[in-house]
Amino acid sequence: MSNGHRQDPDRVRAMFGGIARRYDLLNHLLSVNLDRGWRRAAVQRVPAQSPGPVLDLCGGTGDLAVELIRLGRASEVICCDFSHAMLLLAREKFDRRRILDRCRVLEADALRLPFADSSFDAVTVGFGIRNFSRLESGLREILRVLRPSGCMVVLEFSRPTGPLFSRLYRFYLRRILPRLGDAIGRGRGAYRYLASTISEFPDPPTLAGRIRDSGFAACDWSCMAGGIVAVHVGHKESVTADSKAPEQHQQQGLLGV
Ligand SMILES: C[S@@+](CC[C@H](N)C(=O)[O-])C[C@H]1O[C@@H](n2cnc3c(N)ncnc32)[C@H](O)[C@@H]1O
Repeated sequence: MSNGHRQDPDRVRAMFGGIARRYDLLNHLLSVNLDRGWRRAAVQRVPAQSPGPVLDLCGGTGDLAVELIRLGRASEVICCDFSHAMLLLAREKFDRRRILDRCRVLEADALRLPFADSSFDAVTVGFGIRNFSRLESGLREILRVLRPSGCMVVLEFSRPTGPLFSRLYRFYLRRILPRLGDAIGRGRGAYRYLASTISEFPDPPTLAGRIRDSGFAACDWSCMAGGIVAVHVGHKESVTADSKAPEQHQQQGLLGV
């Protein structure tokens, strides 16, 4: 099953590479800085510091990784993304904040992770899952690398349900957002893409169902900002037939930091 429509990974990668330098600025401006609070709220759903690293998938420029460290939810983060340009900026950010020793970057596709089964207690995905070319494959890959009882926290755009707010939001998505993206950062194509993927992405109860159907034992979710964003928390069952000691992380894909 696709995501509503199939995202072409090469196109997605090129698009994020094209807007990487302006990505943080556009995010903060277009969300009137609300994105910082959304990331904080999502990170607070990660259980307090687990001994091993937390995997932040679709980590982009590293904001969720920074929050994981800042809020004490991780002693170490692997910030994974398939856009080289986004990861270079993440690494610069970790360096500026003097957390480079605790945040590593990894260039890899979330649908084919270079990790052994049961490697992580927690996996986070911020505004990334909507871009997966095959949602179920991505979810099953996350489940595979999670340890038994581990959890996945997904922060993703959604749609308001109130009739007036949803009409206003649709208008904002279709008419205003692409123009703003264009005016601020020549990102019209990217923000048109954002608008269309938000419109087509499963609503929170449907996404929770697909997370459970992918093998997670349970999934709860909550909405913020009147339904503009949702946080889903998927739990892996406590003991699985294949729960065995994790092997060493394969790190060939790690950028030289
Ligand atoms: C909207 S950005 C989110 C970045 C960051 N998590 C945040 O909160 O701002 C989505 C990121 O997901 C990455 N991405 C999309 N599909 C991916 C995949 N299959 N594997 C790895 N990264 C992917 C893109 O390159 C991009 O950097």
